[in-house]
Amino acid sequence: MKEQKRATLPESFKNKILVGDVLENMPLIPDESVDLVITSPPYNLKNSTGNGMKNGKGGKWSNASLIKGYIDYDDCMPHAEYVAWQRQCLDQMMRVIHDEGALFYNHKWRVQGGLLQDRHDIVAGFPVRQIIIWRRAGGINFNPGYFLPTYEVIYLIAKKDFKLAPKANAVGDVWEFPQEMNNPHPAPFPLALIERIIQSTVAEIILDPFIGSGTTALAAKKNGRTYIGIELSKDYATYAEERIRRYTETSNNIEEAVKDDLPLYKTVL
Ligand SMILES: C[S@@+](CC[C@H](N)C(=O)[O-])C[C@H]1O[C@@H](n2cnc3c(N)ncnc32)[C@H](O)[C@@H]1O
Repeated sequence: MKEQKRATLPESFKNKILVGDVLENMPLIPDESVDLVITSPPYNLKNSTGNGMKNGKGGKWSNASLIKGYIDYDDCMPHAEYVAWQRQCLDQMMRVIHDEGALFYNHKWRVQGGLLQDRHDIVAGFPVRQIIIWRRAGGINFNPGYFLPTYEVIYLIAKKDFKLAPKANAVGDVWEFPQEMNNPHPAPFPLALIERIIQSTVAEIILDPFIGSGTTALAAKKNGRTYIGIELSKDYATYAEERIRRYTETSNNIEEAVKDDLPLYKTVL
């Protein structure tokens, strides 16, 4: 990346997962010290007008483990409060990236009360440059009023001088990646999806403020980049650290790092 206004990230943040609340930890990260943010927040799934997440049938999610929810977070805020919270998080993410930086912010649209709830209210006013469609396998749709949803979105929210890595602009904006099956976290990223994002940029310092099982960290390490993560749940953060440690200890063997024999695998289920 060419020299521009940016700060150096202190060594103490590099390749670390900070355990705690996103809005308590983000202010510790200096302005313009991060190249790229890749993240998927909790979707507020339990605050729903009834898509199966409440009745326990599983709704649109084929990964039924999300019905049980997260270990330390109920994912059920009044909608307006949730939107305000996410906008505060986006403000913090925008603050920590510099003028060549960008956010890849993954979210899911859904039907609420018979109407599409896209996430425009969250991203309105932020510099959304593109919406990438992540096509994933469909689950089961219990609602006869609409087609089975099969995609999530990734908002590319970019600062003014953000550019993709050379030739990455030849890649289309609809990406097909299967859901991650071998991960006890209820809503993990597929590793390959995050590698696609990372390899599409020249970013060196990558932040995931909702890092969960540490997929962004593993993908960053696998691609020779530096990560910082934030995670509320101590159990998920410890599991993420276990995966990263296994990756390093096996001389970067990714299959070993994502195996289900890790000590905490059953704990976070
Ligand atoms: C959609 S998951 C992210 C999963 C992650 N992408 C992965 O690959 O495992 C959202 C994560 O946000 C965490 N979380 C919820 N509230 C939080 C908060 N206030 N601060 C930090 N993390 C939070 C949850 O514990 C959960 O692990």
